[in-house]
Amino acid sequence: MIHFNVPPITGDEKKYVCEAIDSHKICGDGEFTKKCSRWMEEKVNAQRVLLTTSGSTALDMALLLCNLNPGDEVILPSYTFSSTANSAVLCGARLVFVDIRPDTMNIDEKLIEKAITNKTKVIIVMHYAGVACEMDEIMQIAKKHNLIVVEDAAQGVASEYKSKKLGTIGDFGCYSFHETKNFSMGEGGAIVINNPDYIEKAEILREKGTNRSKFLRGQIDKYTWVDFGDSYLPSELNAAYLWAQLCHSDEITAKRMAIWNRYKTVMEKYEQQGVVELQYIPDYAKHNAHMFYIKLKDLEERTKFISYFKSKEIITPFHYVPLHSAPAGLKFGRFFGEDIYTTKESERLVRLPLYYNMTEDELDVVIDTLDNYFNNSNKKL
Ligand SMILES: Cc1ncc(COP(=O)(O)O)c(C=O)c1O
Repeated sequence: MIHFNVPPITGDEKKYVCEAIDSHKICGDGEFTKKCSRWMEEKVNAQRVLLTTSGSTALDMALLLCNLNPGDEVILPSYTFSSTANSAVLCGARLVFVDIRPDTMNIDEKLIEKAITNKTKVIIVMHYAGVACEMDEIMQIAKKHNLIVVEDAAQGVASEYKSKKLGTIGDFGCYSFHETKNFSMGEGGAIVINNPDYIEKAEILREKGTNRSKFLRGQIDKYTWVDFGDSYLPSELNAAYLWAQLCHSDEITAKRMAIWNRYKTVMEKYEQQGVVELQYIPDYAKHNAHMFYIKLKDLEERTKFISYFKSKEIITPFHYVPLHSAPAGLKFGRFFGEDIYTTKESERLVRLPLYYNMTEDELDVVIDTLDNYFNNSNKKL
């Protein structure tokens, strides 16, 4: 069986996890957490990066820091993971879903301004497949209307928009280190805080409402409960696993990129034959090979593709069922304007296996199966 994803292992994970165990310091904010945070602050050139228990809780922190009131509106795409929306719901906001661009599957920046009302407070963008949204336009709209921008960069760690790392452009950026992501710690994430006004508040929110972070830095001699908070610190065991991955980040990215490029080369001929549409990478974007997806004619053709691959023991999953049509989406939000692309494009999309430890043999098998499939299928787009 060739799985869609296998969690990345570089070889140093056991060593660092054992070091964490031997240090007898396995709660949060120990040496490995510090190493991971500093590494990210340097690599992405961010004011402050705080490790969290997941990408979902990084988003929760970001939205809680936005200080929303019940009834405030948050603009977001419908083609995204539930976590993008849950964080806004947690804060009592109403969701306003905006259609996507069919080329990148990202929120259509041209529709955002029309969806703004006097209740709008936040725009959440999601960089699908690690390919950047059109951030200059989005930041301009946010500035004009005094809105906060949260980047859901769960899939976009190390990707760029016009040479800026994703997650560092809006007020907050949220990363995921779930086992399906390029760099992993099992479950985990990080919040990037780009507006320095939020740093102290974020530290307090993450540490159960206390100023313990200041205490740990020796800035105060005892710590106390100063505001609302929760516990968003991952264990050192998880941070140690992530550290092994970050130390090998260039190798991980290079390997993923090689697989991505090989798929692209193989699939280009089928794109020219008009039976498949490939991912579009805008000139402004540098991606991280998080995902290789293709788009087929329609839902029927995709169902046929997935079952053919399953019969060959290869897992090729589809992705999000649009949030606005899900039961919670209907309850918590509304779609702005017309759903021209969100549903239609989501039904055509299918993802190919892509993971760091994928062997050449496994890749060859997937590619042979793609050739067999497309050489016998002429369903034009
Ligand atoms: C776009 C998006 N947002 C948020 C998340 C949530 O991340 P996590 O699984 O780390 O909570 C994911 C992860 O699957 C995601 O793909």
